[in-house]
Amino acid sequence: MIKAQFQVFVSPEAVAEAVAAHIAEVVRARPETVLGLATGKTFVPIYEALVRVSVETGLSFAEASSFNLDEYVGLAPNHPASFRRYMEENFFRHVDLPAERALLPEADGDAAAACLAYEAAIVARGGIDVQLLGIGRNGHIGFNEPGSAFDGRTQVAKLTPSTIAANTSDFPPGEVPPPEAITMGIGTILEAREIVLVATGAGKAEALARAFLAPPDETCPASALQRHGHVTVFCDEAAFAGMGHQAKA
Ligand code: GLP
Repeated sequence: MIKAQFQVFVSPEAVAEAVAAHIAEVVRARPETVLGLATGKTFVPIYEALVRVSVETGLSFAEASSFNLDEYVGLAPNHPASFRRYMEENFFRHVDLPAERALLPEADGDAAAACLAYEAAIVARGGIDVQLLGIGRNGHIGFNEPGSAFDGRTQVAKLTPSTIAANTSDFPPGEVPPPEAITMGIGTILEAREIVLVATGAGKAEALARAFLAPPDETCPASALQRHGHVTVFCDEAAFAGMGHQAKA
């Protein structure tokens, strides 16, 4: 019995439309929604679709707040590969979410203090209503790499060589990702009231199957999501390929 609802679509574009429609519905129903946001290539078409919905329907984020999952340690917020810059370019500058309520971990200063401050800020907002999550090829969520504790809080995490290799294309030529990032911990993530996991492309099929078909295990961080009662996986057929027919809604 798989403890997540799967919504499977023909293409990444169809996944993006569906995720955007879902987030729009949540924010329309509750304008003060606290969103947990994610970055990565998977989310580029999702923010594009959400911005389009916002423009076309007048959906406002003026009462909403957001907390991103992670940020590289030591990158200035305006570095071309920082997640702050990604969020500004793909989402924040196109919508009316107030800048003071659109937060990412402050990873270019005292990182330990930033981790504590981030946890406190999430609590002060009343917790995260809907957390968007991607998945790494090794099953990571946020920057919680294999071996991360399922009860971990916001912390400085070391990136694995495979994650550094996967994200190098986001950096200017000749630069590589920093070796560390601040990430919400798996425990922090599991406290969100709803989780939306997005996976597209054949490269995610193995990670998705490991996350939901085997018992939860710290070697696959995303398998912790089996311990959450309200997870929806939005994926395309290529990413769903390892799941068999058992999970399809
Ligand atoms: C990154 C991020 C994750 C993201 C994952 C997959 O390293 N820290 O939050 O979900 O890797 O990224 P992509 O969508 O580019 O495959």
